[in-house]
Amino acid sequence: MLSIKNLHASIGDKEILKGINLEVKAGEIHAIMGPNGAGKSTLASIIAGNENYEVTAGEISLDGEDLSELAPEERAHKGVFLSFQYPVEIPGVSVTNFMRTAINETRKANGLEEMPAKDMLKVIREKSELLEIDRKFLSRSLNEGFSGGEKKRNEIFQMAMLEPKLAILDETDSGLDIDALRIVANGVNKLKSDKNAIVVITHYQRLLDYIVPDFVHVLYNGKIVKSGGKELAHELEEKGYDWIKQEQEA
Ligand SMILES: Nc1ncnc2c1ncn2[C@@H]1O[C@H](COP(=O)(O)OP(=O)(O)O)[C@@H](O)[C@H]1O
Ligand SMILES: [Mg+2]
Repeated sequence: MLSIKNLHASIGDKEILKGINLEVKAGEIHAIMGPNGAGKSTLASIIAGNENYEVTAGEISLDGEDLSELAPEERAHKGVFLSFQYPVEIPGVSVTNFMRTAINETRKANGLEEMPAKDMLKVIREKSELLEIDRKFLSRSLNEGFSGGEKKRNEIFQMAMLEPKLAILDETDSGLDIDALRIVANGVNKLKSDKNAIVVITHYQRLLDYIVPDFVHVLYNGKIVKSGGKELAHELEEKGYDWIKQEQEA
């Protein structure tokens, strides 16, 4: 599904990613962990097509298609979803209406007709039931006065509605409380399928008490320095990131 080869990226004259290799297959959940400043959010932004970063070498492809020349919207239309760490508030636009527009834009970009209102309602009902989201929430203004947990609920609802091939959830520094963690974890566990792939980025091991990743990667100083199974997350929790630092500097 996602294939990243020897990715190097910079901002200004500072190199942030220094040769990332990552293969994510359909049906898999990958966790990317690492200390602050390692380049985790940068990697997520670059996969989604953020133009503030310059890719200086390497390739990113989705189902064999090179993404490098595509704008962020085009990548989204091809099924790349990135959660926003700092979501925008849109007064007067409800959670549901925002979703309607997003879905129809994606359909249009893929040469499909708008989804009939009746079908849309049905999907909204199904997905909100699946994720235990109540109706009142769906009619609220997007992100306006949302708590941390509500922002996460909205994000997971968007992911459920858009059914991305590749979902990247950047949960780094947002100081998630336990409720928010559960919402994210529950959503990921319910939305995981053999047709999609999910990459969860997190600084803390705690989220991985609820989501069981198939693979864990440690990003340090712009490189993936360790990969393993879920036990790697526990090992990191135990030994801390100093363990990685010492190994790298030895
Ligand atoms: N827009 C930017 N301008 C300047 N430096 C940046 C920018 N974005 C990221 N960086 C730098 O790149 C490095 C990696 O940042 P980031 O990807 O946010 O790390 P992480 O998400 O792992 O904490 C940091 O040293 C950070 O200061
Ligand atoms: Mg980050």
